[in-house]
Amino acid sequence: MTEQAKRYPVPETIRERAWVDEAAYRTRYQTSVESTNAFWLEEAKRLDWFSKPQTAGNVSFSPDSVSIKWFEDGTLNACYNCLDRHLDTKGDQVAFHWEGDDQAKTDSITFKALHERVCRFANGLKDLGVKKGDTVTLYMPMIPEAVVAMLACARIGAIHSVVFGGFSPDALANRIVDSGSRVVITSDESVRGGKQIPLKENVDEALDRPGTEVVEHVVVVKRTGADIETTERDRWYDDVVADQSAECPAEPMKAEDPLFILYTSGSTGAPKGLLHTTGGYLLYASMTHHDIFDVHDDDVYWCAADVGWITGHSYIVYGPMANGTTSVLFEGVPSYPDHGRIGEIIDRYGVTILYTSPTMVRSLMAQGDHIMDSSSRQSLRVLGSVGEPINPEAWQWFYRVIGNSQCPIMDTWWQTETGGVMITPLPGATELKPGSATHPFFGIQPALYDNEGNELEGATEGNLIIKASWPGQARTIWNNHERFVQTYFSTFDDVYFTGDGCRRDEEGYYWITGRIDDVLNVSGHRMGTAEIESSLVAHEAVAEAAVVGFPHDVKGQGIYIYVTLNEGVTPSDELRSELVKWVRKDIGPIATPDVIQWAPGLPKTRSGKIMRRILRKIAANELDGLGDTSTLADPSVVDDLIDHRAG
Ligand code: WTA
Repeated sequence: MTEQAKRYPVPETIRERAWVDEAAYRTRYQTSVESTNAFWLEEAKRLDWFSKPQTAGNVSFSPDSVSIKWFEDGTLNACYNCLDRHLDTKGDQVAFHWEGDDQAKTDSITFKALHERVCRFANGLKDLGVKKGDTVTLYMPMIPEAVVAMLACARIGAIHSVVFGGFSPDALANRIVDSGSRVVITSDESVRGGKQIPLKENVDEALDRPGTEVVEHVVVVKRTGADIETTERDRWYDDVVADQSAECPAEPMKAEDPLFILYTSGSTGAPKGLLHTTGGYLLYASMTHHDIFDVHDDDVYWCAADVGWITGHSYIVYGPMANGTTSVLFEGVPSYPDHGRIGEIIDRYGVTILYTSPTMVRSLMAQGDHIMDSSSRQSLRVLGSVGEPINPEAWQWFYRVIGNSQCPIMDTWWQTETGGVMITPLPGATELKPGSATHPFFGIQPALYDNEGNELEGATEGNLIIKASWPGQARTIWNNHERFVQTYFSTFDDVYFTGDGCRRDEEGYYWITGRIDDVLNVSGHRMGTAEIESSLVAHEAVAEAAVVGFPHDVKGQGIYIYVTLNEGVTPSDELRSELVKWVRKDIGPIATPDVIQWAPGLPKTRSGKIMRRILRKIAANELDGLGDTSTLADPSVVDDLIDHRAG
């Protein structure tokens, strides 16, 4: 496929005004890996510092002393960089064009207006007793107040922990407890695709769970005006900001002071709170945003992610705002009121840069080309893709139909842990190959290792690792540094282990092949198989469960579950739908199982380990490639599972 793959050279119009062309990429990349500290100190000038750093990286990847620090002696404030420093030159420029789920509901907010709103809320948070170093949980829809709340926390030095609004009360409760938040910010309801979701009710339910007594206040934004129950700890957002001053000094923070926690799934255990700090993260988010999307002052940029994910943190809020970019903030879904919505939003605001997910592209592609007829999308210049591998068919459709065959696609590979994009094309520098994330960003040194930790050279496939630190890297797991070391620095010595597999072709292009651990990627959402399994075994009918991913046309991966029922329980369609509902309720709708197969037995080794490799093959209907089953304790269970394949 590598040889035949069609190539897409840099368009002349893009190259002419690009910040980085091919020659500049090569020389700057070289400098970034040869004189790393000098390179990053120079780049650090992109930010406004209260006191400028004199040092860059101070890092150890050695398992007994993992420690990651950047710009330690510098002080700055992330919110100041996102707002205050733009006020003189861009105060009246729109920071966000907000478009509600209902397209008649819109709002355009200038940097100046946003600054005022952030200051008022920051003062309100202070009045609620929030101090520097406190954690605050946000559980919010895609409304301007979500951005206001994040920046208000950053302004006063509080650490935000945003929990995606699609998570269940239990998932929310776990994250509140782990982060130790005393304040939760939410809204009465959220609205997506015309449907109301009871966020405040979910918060109340979460706060019934043990351990959540730490929460003193719940701040509620009125989104729909629904009639909700209130308790003594509740405060309306409008009351919290009323009478507050529109001035609030931005707290000077050390570069290594925490900016936020963001929970993500791993292969084992509960979701882990990755910690990002202030200086390095902000620099990396803003620089990658600037160079990868080739952002200029006249651009209108739209990242169609949710602020509940890292993509929303780095490329809706911190990156674009630090760069003073005008963005679109969209509350709704691509299919509502119909599938023309995305194109219509692009035309309405003159969007020049669109950053979205392969899942969204595939869901539109499934409708046929005509669904783009209601828009011209002539304003578009650059496209971006994130979150999962983009298959070449979807890539080509994105290019040809959404981008009118005139916009290069930046297939950006990165992770919650990396803070910003790591492997990516640059619009003015990279010849594209559909399906390849192409080359490392400045300062990033990827390598492919075999399972024994030997570095593989040339065209090959292996475990993707990163050899040296970069400023955007997560510093630790909140409350659990040991787990941080264990997860990322113990598989291979002295390098960061990504958990992804990757191929490199003859020309040095990187092709991410997907997770090599027990993490699923469903519609670009990360999910641990262990989380779903432990949810299922908590159901009284279930003795054992094994979860694997299988190829899904739209979602990339679907969730396939093998369930062994307890003695005496009869399998039925009702029970199947009950288990689907159970998982949805326990984790959230993003974890909705696609297929449940009843499994009288699971394929296990003699030591009792489930052989997921076999379960994956059966789920994918690749029955020829089952491999050696002779080491199984009971090889006959495999035949039964094949005979009763579901889906
Ligand atoms: C996957 C999302 C292929 C990958 C920013 C990674 C990708 C996980 C790509 C991180 C891409 C992300 N091509 N795979 N362009 N981007 N991934 O933490 O498996 O939600 O490890 O961060 O998504 O997911 P996360």
